[in-house]
Amino acid sequence: MAGKLIIGNWKMNTRAQSAQSLVDALLEQPACDQPWVGVAAPAVYLAALGARLQGRSIRLAAQDVSAFASDGAYTGEISAAMLQDIGCAYVLVGHSERRQYFAENNPQLLAKMNNALAAGIVPVLCVGETLEQREQGDYLEVIYQQLAVLAEINAGEYLIAYEPVWAIGTGKVATLEQIAEIHSAIKTWCLQNAKPSASIRVLYGGSVKAENAESILMTDNVDGALVGGASLDAGSFRMICQAA
Ligand code: G3H
Repeated sequence: MAGKLIIGNWKMNTRAQSAQSLVDALLEQPACDQPWVGVAAPAVYLAALGARLQGRSIRLAAQDVSAFASDGAYTGEISAAMLQDIGCAYVLVGHSERRQYFAENNPQLLAKMNNALAAGIVPVLCVGETLEQREQGDYLEVIYQQLAVLAEINAGEYLIAYEPVWAIGTGKVATLEQIAEIHSAIKTWCLQNAKPSASIRVLYGGSVKAENAESILMTDNVDGALVGGASLDAGSFRMICQAA
């Protein structure tokens, strides 16, 4: 099933030693040490992991990037240029946890997308509805509002990750029908409204595990997976990568 992209999002987990051990374990697995596999580690460990990954195939990813474009007095911020400097290939933008806990909004996310693109980093715009929004039936409208950022992007390659909030870290996976419906809707919206990315690729995220990875990755319009909890276990992540 070549051509699928797998990104592990470690979120706020690991320590220096366990992060190195996890990457070392992945590097020992041919299924993981591939250019279509990425690891989004905590920012403080990216530089060390980037050094470890030199000359290997696994791509380095960041979990966030500053909305500020240039160096300056922005305490605590990490710029796209800094991420590019240490070898990041991807950066997550607008993960639902950042929307929820840091109130990230479309103007900020557009700035983050543009900063990543200007630095040659592929941004992964994360979209998805809450359970309440799904139950109210207006989940497609919610997702289209989140995708609206892409209508403002002028050029460059980006990815989209569909992550239903109710499926993140809950063990509740969207059904294959639900995934197919949303991925198809996202691609249709992009064709009609977004400045074209080189190709429109949509990853699925939300309780992806070794046991369900193959069926999810075989679903129509699923171009890869954004894996949270299961990416912290080298054995589970290897099996997900094997399914790709
Ligand atoms: O970024 C990853 C997603 O939030 C999915 O997390 O696989 O733990 O549900 P999860």
